Amino acid sequence: VALLRKMREQKAARAKAENPDKKILVAFASQTGTAQEIAKALHAQIVEKTGTPKLAVLSAFNDVDVDSLKPDTFPVVAFVAASTGDGDPPDNTASFYAKMLRKKKEELKGVRYTCLGLGDSNYTRFMAVPRNMRKKFEGLGAECIYWNAEADEVDGLEETVEKWTEGALEAVLKEYRAATAGGSEAMASVEAAESKPPPKFKGLPALLPRRVTFSWQEGVDEGGQAIGVVLGGHHNAEGSYTQERPFLAKVKAARRVTPEGYGKQIVHMELSIDGSNIEYKPGDAFGVLPVNDPNLVDDLLQRLGADGSRVFEASEAVNSIRAPCSVRAALSRHCDLTTPAKKSLIRLLAESCDDVKEKDDLLLICSAEGKPRYKKEILEAQPNLLDLLRAYPSCRPKVEDLVEFLPALAPREYSVSSCPHAHGGSIHFAFSVVEFETGGGRTRRGVATNWLAGIADAVASGESCEVPIFPKPSKDFHHPEDAVRPVVMIGPGTGVSPFRGFVHHRKYLLSLQGGEGAVGESWLFFGCRERTKDAIYLDEFDAFVESGVLTTLDCAFSREQEEKVYVQDKMGESGTRLSNLILNEDAFIFVCGDGQHMAKDVHAKLEEILCEHGGLKRAAATAYLQIMQKQGRYVRDTWS
Ligand code: 2AM
Repeated sequence: VALLRKMREQKAARAKAENPDKKILVAFASQTGTAQEIAKALHAQIVEKTGTPKLAVLSAFNDVDVDSLKPDTFPVVAFVAASTGDGDPPDNTASFYAKMLRKKKEELKGVRYTCLGLGDSNYTRFMAVPRNMRKKFEGLGAECIYWNAEADEVDGLEETVEKWTEGALEAVLKEYRAATAGGSEAMASVEAAESKPPPKFKGLPALLPRRVTFSWQEGVDEGGQAIGVVLGGHHNAEGSYTQERPFLAKVKAARRVTPEGYGKQIVHMELSIDGSNIEYKPGDAFGVLPVNDPNLVDDLLQRLGADGSRVFEASEAVNSIRAPCSVRAALSRHCDLTTPAKKSLIRLLAESCDDVKEKDDLLLICSAEGKPRYKKEILEAQPNLLDLLRAYPSCRPKVEDLVEFLPALAPREYSVSSCPHAHGGSIHFAFSVVEFETGGGRTRRGVATNWLAGIADAVASGESCEVPIFPKPSKDFHHPEDAVRPVVMIGPGTGVSPFRGFVHHRKYLLSLQGGEGAVGESWLFFGCRERTKDAIYLDEFDAFVESGVLTTLDCAFSREQEEKVYVQDKMGESGTRLSNLILNEDAFIFVCGDGQHMAKDVHAKLEEILCEHGGLKRAAATAYLQIMQKQGRYVRDTWS
């Protein structure tokens, strides 16, 4: 009996070690998938270190039972939270967050946590989501165990993410050991691992475990029908189009605005939304699902020795593949082939090398010691996947591994430049074609804009083309309801797009109410390089001034003279009038375009104008603009 009892106890202990009562929770609040990727990597490292897959749970917040957040279930929580532009929790966190708000004080007492926030400081509500989540955790009694890091897109996420992940891994394991009184048995393997001789490469990212299984279909897909998403030609029953179920919009017209050979290329495009039931307002945006360069995909298929026409079905959604998909479509439409490889991908490539020297070289690049090489050879030189595979000829990753572990090809957002009253059944937009030199002297071409530019040329020569889109309404970038209040619009480059919609909307309002006085003052600051080269929509704006729909148009042509002239310089020239409109006439200010420099410089100019011409002290001007932002009187739509 004693022996039996002992065996039973041993069995229970083993089961407990494999599936302990207390677990580490690695949670993510993710909108585009970046936070999820980071959480996934941390989770994989915990699993690798403890050797027990069940000791840590990886989960989107919405899938976590709020009541299970207590020290008996999850004594330690590490979470990664992204900020959405307007500071609301991402979709996969919203219901969890709402439930958290109903929780009582101290309900999280005894829970230890650390948080990594992801955000973009171009947005005013920078870090709103992670900060609110942290506040909520603290308010309910949870205790922070490690640096709550904030990674800013503007500086590049990588460095902060790595530092946090490394420290969080250590802190989480330490706290877990403490919380399980000396450690569950699973932790013993961590200690054993730690006492082993040091590995050849330190600080390697974990080799992520395979999650998805691929079942291969009998037939092949020569025609490219199997693309992994369901494209909608009609309004679908659920009511709306999404990234997973986009509307296939026919390109009605497209033209290059800039002359051939001009250094910067701008394209105007018009899509048909006839029969879609898509509704939008000027100021809204929409998402486009781009396609990778077919030559790159062909070369990649050849290098991998893979048959692009084979069709697979994945056991769960991976990179938005939710339907049978051909290998070619997976690489063309679902996988990001050009963003600099994350360390976890380099680790995968290393493991796929036959040649030991090549393997070690890749391992070194993604190890702690190889940090300078990673920075120079990956982040700065920006090789795409094909460049990497060519540099390491013995590397033969499986297509399935790549489809699972390459980042998802993200949809791109564009602001509409049309107005439903003027351009019924259509969405217009404009974009600059992205091309840049990398640190290693390579020329890189933006995936989506070059694909769209190719479509524009094809359409111009009579071909019929379609673009998968879905609506992305803006929360606050809309023409004011009260059209009598003055509107100041600042939009250099393609940033002028929403204002074309705004001005057409004003024309419509004027036609409704029968003439002048029905709308208030409107003032557009536009900027481009040269009037005759890249001045998009300028003819229309000139005509609107002529007809009185637009009160004032101020243009800054930056390259028509020695000294650069920018929109903010033009604003400075009219400081008194601007400050009066803002301080005394309750004007709205809209800014759209480049967020890296322009939006900041324009903001600084507004502050300066309020001080110099409005008599405000610096702190008061800063506060005034902040209040305007809160009230939705100063609204920005920027990109970097
Ligand atoms: P540049 O390229 O000649 O420097 C649209 O891209 C216009 O915005 C161009 O005329 C560009 O000028 C200008 N621009 C560049 N940086 C800017 C900034 N910081 N503020 C305002 N306009 C800027």
